[in-house]
Amino acid sequence: MPSVFIKTYGCQMNERDSEAVAAQLMTKGYAVASDEAQADVILLNTCSVRDAAEQKAINKMETLIGQTRKHNPDAVLGFMGCMAQSRGAELVDQLPDVDLVLGTQKFHRAGEYLEDLLNGRRDKVVDTDEEKGSEGAIREHLLNAQSESKAVTAFVSIMQGCNQFCTFCIVPYTRGRERCRSIEDIVAECRGLVESGVREVTLLGQIVNSYGKREIGVKDGKSAFVQLIEAVHEIEGLERIRFTSPHPKGYGDDLVDAYVRLPKLMENAHLPVQSGSDRMLKLMHRGYTRDRFLELVGKLRTAAPEMGVGTDIIVGFPGETEADFEETMSLCREVEFDNAFLFKYSRRRDTPAAEMPDQLPEELIEERHARLLEAVDEIRVRKFNEFVSRRMEILVEGPSRRNAARLEGRTRCNRIVVFEGGDRFVGQVMDVEIESTSPTTLYGNPAIINLN
Ligand code: 5AD
Ligand code: SF4
Repeated sequence: MPSVFIKTYGCQMNERDSEAVAAQLMTKGYAVASDEAQADVILLNTCSVRDAAEQKAINKMETLIGQTRKHNPDAVLGFMGCMAQSRGAELVDQLPDVDLVLGTQKFHRAGEYLEDLLNGRRDKVVDTDEEKGSEGAIREHLLNAQSESKAVTAFVSIMQGCNQFCTFCIVPYTRGRERCRSIEDIVAECRGLVESGVREVTLLGQIVNSYGKREIGVKDGKSAFVQLIEAVHEIEGLERIRFTSPHPKGYGDDLVDAYVRLPKLMENAHLPVQSGSDRMLKLMHRGYTRDRFLELVGKLRTAAPEMGVGTDIIVGFPGETEADFEETMSLCREVEFDNAFLFKYSRRRDTPAAEMPDQLPEELIEERHARLLEAVDEIRVRKFNEFVSRRMEILVEGPSRRNAARLEGRTRCNRIVVFEGGDRFVGQVMDVEIESTSPTTLYGNPAIINLN
């Protein structure tokens, strides 16, 4: 029985794609390799959003080639995902030991190509073609493939691709145009997950609020995405629903209102703002203004005062002046994000921003990044400490990743809480009282009597 090792770079979409490929291979009889150096098949699921992510995967592959040549010369080595899609055959030219390059619409073909390669196929496989219907092919989960793990939470991919073409972003080129699965299909997948013990689903897409805009459309004043959430909300036994990422553009009042109406929808919004400067937002082709963004955050916090608000910000977009950067700083102070991911602008080939004048020197980007990081961190820690002494509802997910003797769960607003307790809590929704915090974790005490 061949064994497989998959390493994932990048976003939750990639995590989900890797899981689906792993599940597909498990059903074909593969085992999960505990040690990458011993695996018969080693796959790197890659990210292209920034150059650093691409370089990491390439360096990793070089190391793997060095290792397997010595100990495991028949191992099949492959790239899949975004960098596989954008670089294609170039990767094989650069690294002739690579056997497989699998694009973003081809994850479901991994099994058949690997079978050929393991059976001695000599020529390389590079498949980065478009494939109609591929958005519906990512549906297998590890927990459905007789795996040992009893997952409490699961990602569900509802759509693929992006039509927004932000000028800095490579994703529309690596993931292609927007394609959506049907509501029935997604609900059926969620139902299956719940039957296997899952209590929380996170609906994934590049811009989830564009879901089904053309194919399904508005009904009774509700966008297709809200119709989808409502349909998932009906599933008995499902406790929690999350989604990521929405786009501030086209974030309708119906989606704001969903937080008020639908108790299973968790109070957490990851809203990538990218910049606080209207001039930058326009050059980035984001489709909203600073005021519109602030108005949206205001509406969300009015609808759900406990709302955890997160964001992504790019520092050093071409032409960013000190004044533009100050606007981003002031936006962060005004919104007080619970969580902000900061990205140093990375020039991506074939994107419009790569050709824009005034590309900023690296030192300046570094310097602004450090200043913004200090500001957002200070805000995050201050807000985090406000949780101490509060009672919060969590869904218990399993043993803590840091200390397996403890359990870990998540608050409705997506904070990790670590606490002492036995296995019987796993999968349960319960209250904990927050006793202390570390920079990223809350520590709690179950707010019930008769523990053990
Ligand atoms: N450079 C830096 N960050 C980028 N992102 C997307 N493209 C780039 C780029 N070229 C960031 C955005 C996006 C997140 C997933 O990655 O902030 O929201
Ligand atoms: Fe990239 Fe913009 Fe699409 Fe997000 S919305 S994936 S940043 S092009």
